Amino acid sequence: MSKYIIDGGHSLSGTITVDCAKNAYLPILAGTILCDGEVILKRPPRFTDVMNMCLILEKLGMKVTQENDALIINGSKANPRFVPVDIAKLLRSSIFTLGAMLGRFKQARVAYPGGCDIGLRPIDLHLKGLRDMGVIITESHGIINCDATKLHGGMVHLDFASVGATENLILTAVLGKEKTTILNCAREPEIVDLCNFLNKMGARIFGAGTGRIEIEPVKKLYGTEYTPIGDRIIAGTYLIAGAITHGEIEVCGCNTMFFSSLIDKLRYSGCVLKVKSDKIYLKSPKTLKSVGFVETQVYPGFPTDLQAQILTLQTVSEGSCVVQENIFESRFKFVPELIKMGAKVRARDCTAYIEGVDSLSGAEVYAKDLRGGASLVLAGLTAKGYTTVHDIYHIERGYSDLDLCLNSLGAKIRRED
Ligand code: EPZ
Repeated sequence: MSKYIIDGGHSLSGTITVDCAKNAYLPILAGTILCDGEVILKRPPRFTDVMNMCLILEKLGMKVTQENDALIINGSKANPRFVPVDIAKLLRSSIFTLGAMLGRFKQARVAYPGGCDIGLRPIDLHLKGLRDMGVIITESHGIINCDATKLHGGMVHLDFASVGATENLILTAVLGKEKTTILNCAREPEIVDLCNFLNKMGARIFGAGTGRIEIEPVKKLYGTEYTPIGDRIIAGTYLIAGAITHGEIEVCGCNTMFFSSLIDKLRYSGCVLKVKSDKIYLKSPKTLKSVGFVETQVYPGFPTDLQAQILTLQTVSEGSCVVQENIFESRFKFVPELIKMGAKVRARDCTAYIEGVDSLSGAEVYAKDLRGGASLVLAGLTAKGYTTVHDIYHIERGYSDLDLCLNSLGAKIRRED
């Protein structure tokens, strides 16, 4: 299993441009199933999740090629084949193919999805919403069989503003027969990006980014060219890398509005920030201050995908802090690994209590999921001595060449297979 070996204590400096967002690229890839023409997606990030999603599209008969810095996807020969379990379980986003296949073929068979082990990750909200749209669903032996021949429009209310459920219902409704309104839907920038992409293909979706999305059905979608938004979670991860190493960095390529909640916390921690629309400069102080309290919320609240990173920053910030994880029920799996490095953290249920220490010390630690794993790298950057982060396949699901990128900013990380 590959690992990172980090020689800690080096301040980061320089400029980095983030990749396109994993959580925009994945539903957009599923959205290409809706089109029987050619779609060109620019700047594909080299994340394993994106590569696995392309594998799923090929299993469905889609043609996927890569030319220069773009994916060329042709759905003319797509068919509602079963998405094999061994691939579906590799990533959460395999579930998005369900909505897209129902949208185009009015039938689908998918296995229960996989993804990060950060909680039960049920899909009850997806299935309830689809049933409310007239989809007949039977589940047996871990396989979900759907029949959307009687798909109808109307009002669909989500009990929780689930990102994936919102995306799945949109993908199902775009080529429907009647208007569909989704209430209490997710407002994340990645939802808006998916809708912008679908509308560029000829869909008629209104209200993306609000709690009420209306989809006027259309008969067909047409091929297009599209570049998804920058990855706000990677941008936030690099900003925190700059902060935790008392460095001075500039992060480009992502709309800074998308992570304004983090910017607010970094200012509170004593960092100096100069914010432009698509780039941000950070200078970290010699002594970081605790931000006191962080509570993860749906967008535009503090994102759950940056919880591990900000918690790690608090372990070396002066004072005490409480981190409340409200989105996933098991997102503190990285905390025991931080404690091995000398962090003073007590996590109970979905609340973590942190007492800042002067410094962490390098240790052998193990990534358990994507964002928790990336946070162990952040801890290694500031720790005294050497840190080895094992099982970095978790991290490579959502960060490409994290070692090379951080080394370009002055870190000292070696990747070993
Ligand atoms: C998306 O996951 C993201 N993944 C996650 O990013 C992100 O953390 C999450 O949204 C929240 O922003 C992708 O976009 C591929 P949810 P998703 O449905 O769609 C519960 C990362 O690190 N829930 O909004 O799975 C669920 O268990 C990943 O990049 C149900 O109970 O998130 C969770 O507690 C991690 N029933 C909460 O809602 C359902 O049917 C939020 O889930 C669906 C969800």
